[in-house]
Amino acid sequence: MQALESPMDNSVANIEETNGKPSNAGAYAVFGNPIKHSKSPLIHSAFAEQFDEQIVYRAIRVELEEFEDRVQRYFAGGGLGLNITVPFKERAYELASERSERARRAKAANFLMPLPDGGIKADNTDGIGMVRDMVVNNGWQLGGRRALVLGAGGAVRGVLQLLISEGPKSIVIANRTVAKAQALAAEFADLGVPISGCGFADLEGETFDLIINGTSAGLSGEMPELPEFSLSEKCCCYDMVYAAEPTPFCRWSAARAAWAVADGLGMLVEQAAESYYLWRGNRPATGPVIRKLRDLIAG
Ligand code: ATR
Repeated sequence: MQALESPMDNSVANIEETNGKPSNAGAYAVFGNPIKHSKSPLIHSAFAEQFDEQIVYRAIRVELEEFEDRVQRYFAGGGLGLNITVPFKERAYELASERSERARRAKAANFLMPLPDGGIKADNTDGIGMVRDMVVNNGWQLGGRRALVLGAGGAVRGVLQLLISEGPKSIVIANRTVAKAQALAAEFADLGVPISGCGFADLEGETFDLIINGTSAGLSGEMPELPEFSLSEKCCCYDMVYAAEPTPFCRWSAARAAWAVADGLGMLVEQAAESYYLWRGNRPATGPVIRKLRDLIAG
């Protein structure tokens, strides 16, 4: 089939209605602001191609004050599903009438789907996306490992439950603002894995088997200021963000001879694959799509 690749579409009128009729029947979209560089249309088109399915998937920039209204109108117009990205994930969670456990833990949703009763279901596929990328794509073992998570914002909150479900020995959340790390650790303390929060300086002298960077420092080319601590012999390092070049955290990890280093491109594709599966019941193969994207961003 011909994959329907949609360019960015900022046109409200064209999306919801054409000649008074819903025009987004059978359609999917990602809502965000900004949205210009979203890879989601390309990823979902590639998934659809695998199953010979016809879908339309658009990246739509939504004005901050219009988010809830746009979601309602999108589904009223026949839209089948939405992905939600920055800065709307918390609002997407709030507006839903039904929420998955993983969305509840994240207090945020990157996935919305209309329900037969007119309500909206919220889910969060970021955590499963990250874990699948680590375990299935990279072959990392997470069970029994001493995990360090850098950062205590929304990105980290979104993946903690799924990380815990892999059964690490312990999790330390380290953050520039210590109180945020401690509060986040306390929120996830009931899930059966020892978890604590601290500042970066407290890491000195510790040893970890798995380090996940969930800070947004890399987005501005920075690396959190970390003291000296040890990476165990088989330490795996994962950056939740990705870039054409190795990120500052990936470079930091490689310089410390980490056993394995990966950035978040696979997570992006895996969270999309989980969304596709939830919407359409087909689980896409992610490997070819990750490779295609890697080539694309390398230019
Ligand atoms: P997101 O939703 O992407 O997680 P966020 O909620 O704003 O965004 O959280 C950003 C995270 O990156 C926070 O943990 C932040 O630390 P603070 O809580 O102390 O603000 C962290 N962060 C951002 N820039 C950083 C930097 N230069 N060094 C260290 N941590 C940084």
